[in-house]
Amino acid sequence: MPADVVEAKAYLDSSKVLVDRWLESYLPADHLEPRSLHQAIRYSVMAGGKRLRPILALATHEYCGGDIEGIDRPIHFAASALEMVHTYSLIHDDLPCMDDDDLRRGMPTCHIKFGEAVAVLAGDALHDIAFGLMARAGSTRAVEELAVAIGTEGMLGGQMADIEAEGHEVSRDEIIEIHRRKTGALIRCSVRVGAILAGADQPMIERLTEYGEKIGLAFQIIDDILDIEGDQKLLGKKVGSDSKKEKATYPGVVGIEQARQDAALLINEAVAVFDKYEENRLKHLAKYIAQRKH
Ligand code: IPE
Ligand code: IPE
Ligand code: MG
Ligand code: MG
Ligand code: MG
Repeated sequence: MPADVVEAKAYLDSSKVLVDRWLESYLPADHLEPRSLHQAIRYSVMAGGKRLRPILALATHEYCGGDIEGIDRPIHFAASALEMVHTYSLIHDDLPCMDDDDLRRGMPTCHIKFGEAVAVLAGDALHDIAFGLMARAGSTRAVEELAVAIGTEGMLGGQMADIEAEGHEVSRDEIIEIHRRKTGALIRCSVRVGAILAGADQPMIERLTEYGEKIGLAFQIIDDILDIEGDQKLLGKKVGSDSKKEKATYPGVVGIEQARQDAALLINEAVAVFDKYEENRLKHLAKYIAQRKH
């Protein structure tokens, strides 16, 4: 394994411990009423996951000179909010009316375990808790970033287009637009929020935005590739879900070999946002995404 991927893995592992601790403390306790809702929320969030979005926010924050040490810092609230929004999107994405999946993060999906009504409400609740936390981070700009990223212009718009494209042929431009929205927007937002909360200047935010856009699109292309040739045990979700639902996917449009090449190119472009000789975590994380198996 290349040295920078080893570095990225170590960083992901140690940061995940921090993110999990914050999530644990900011989620409502599951003995509080309504218990079934709180249990479902904790079940889905604490099931695991790579915590990539909060970790990207942390890495960007530190890259821009922010400090992540201490307790109840704005970046802790923001990082937790990003993971909660992501988990909400997964709970709803798995519903029978959406992708109809029964395995997530190696466990039965929220609606399989708790029923559809609870799963819908658990997603809604995570969305609400996330915005409360993002507000606590104290930056109206960060709140707006999140709102726009996951709204009809961003993630929801992408999810809508993804559903509408089922069973249809789409062009390369169209699938890029779906992926840019449904997955890219939140990843881009994670990077931007990390930078904003560190007080980064506009040129820096723009450079990092470019990085976020490239890795965000690459991330979903690779997700589509893994749905074809990934290992269910490693992924923690079923493979072949896209073809079962006749989803429009990137490899479906350009072929798997071209998809691999395009993802690799995007990762190289993301790395090239930084100085050639500069070693940093964001570069390492991009390289990790390029070779990820889950
Ligand atoms: C899965 O996201 C859904 C997509 C946007 C592709 P992740 O692959 O980050 O899932 P977790 O959080 O690690 O479970
Ligand atoms: C999910 O895309 C995007 C969002 C949840 C917003 P997918 O539907 O491809 O994600 P998986 O494969 O179910 O994780
Ligand atoms: Mg989906
Ligand atoms: Mg899905
Ligand atoms: Mg997928």
